[in-house]
Amino acid sequence: MTEPDLGQLFAVSFYSGFRDVVRDELQEVGPAFKLKTTLLGKRHDFLVFTSAVDATKLLHLRSAENAFVLCCLIDGIPTHRVRGLELVEHTVASARIGDCLQALARCRGIACLSDSPDWRFTVQLQGYHKSSADEVHKLSVEVLTALPALGKRRNEAEVDLRLQIIRDKGFLGLQLPRKAMNKRPYKALTRAGSLDPTVAYSLIRLTKPELGDTFLDPMCGAGTIPIEARLGFRLGAVICGDEDSQAVHITERNASTAETELAVHQWNALHLPLANETVDTIATNLPYGKDVPLDNPGHFLRALLSELARVMRIEGRAALLTAHGNDLDKLVRSGSTFRITSARTLNLYCRAVALLVLERGISRRGRKASNRRRPHKAIDSDKK
Ligand SMILES: C[S@@+](CC[C@H](N)C(=O)[O-])C[C@H]1O[C@@H](n2cnc3c(N)ncnc32)[C@H](O)[C@@H]1O
Repeated sequence: MTEPDLGQLFAVSFYSGFRDVVRDELQEVGPAFKLKTTLLGKRHDFLVFTSAVDATKLLHLRSAENAFVLCCLIDGIPTHRVRGLELVEHTVASARIGDCLQALARCRGIACLSDSPDWRFTVQLQGYHKSSADEVHKLSVEVLTALPALGKRRNEAEVDLRLQIIRDKGFLGLQLPRKAMNKRPYKALTRAGSLDPTVAYSLIRLTKPELGDTFLDPMCGAGTIPIEARLGFRLGAVICGDEDSQAVHITERNASTAETELAVHQWNALHLPLANETVDTIATNLPYGKDVPLDNPGHFLRALLSELARVMRIEGRAALLTAHGNDLDKLVRSGSTFRITSARTLNLYCRAVALLVLERGISRRGRKASNRRRPHKAIDSDKK
């Protein structure tokens, strides 16, 4: 078992593939954190860190799915069934739940929780284990029920305890927010292929938006990306649209629920009614799968890239999420308009999708004009 060496131990979960984005946001929200380890899961990863900062700020992370105050870290869980279960039992029994409950109250910004609060308990077990999640759950519940710091176990409870085990590592923690952070109240209406808000936010963040930038999502679906752009960043104009009138209607309704202004258009993304070189940053989730089919991906991608190149300013950035990553990669490399600054694969909705971040290149002729518009910024490679 590893003990914290600075402040309280925390973990935040996020979609695998966005570690750099979450670290970056964490740094912005509360800089005094020290990374302990990263747990790599099937769909979600966990950053585990110690921090002495005001943890209420963690509740405002837009790239994180959930956040936990940790009672303890577990390391080196044996694959041997009995020894593995013994270690889990020992860890849960010796976890300082009382101290952790006090930390949770501080993190939620309240004086204290009720005495012996009601609790809910979930186990997530990933990787190869000879014991099942049910066995681990039953054993842990027996131990937790006997602790005086905890009251009754209920489905709706003040405190959510999570035992997270991935391969031979894990943690026992208390969920920091009352409800997981990945649900946004504005998303009352949705449609096929709609993104989780944390993913939408992360896409935009990868385009490194700057104050007052003009932002575009040419295929907005239910509007998750442009709404996150409005709520999460200090942009100038946020422009979006979709060819489907129902998508336009849903985006307008969700934007109104989010109490934010959006210009939503019904249009064809391949022929945008926008002037040349007027957009700074673009993030979009291309049609894919049987829900939103693409008849001829090669043709579509070529036409889309050409239209994005037309409307985008020199040094503009675009984050494109697509199931046709290889085709898009080849197309970009075969031309000279864009260069790929970051490429990653995400596991979304049980399938692998590619996320490419592009920068619109700068011609020798355009460099002078561009230098006048904004200072040149070196591009960090996101491949870490
Ligand atoms: C995967 S969905 C986008 C989902 C969106 N990011 C969200 O979170 O709800 C792709 C969208 O592209 C739209 N679309 C497909 N072809 C288009 C085109 N040529 N012009 C504009 N929109 C298009 C579809 O109607 C669909 O809403």
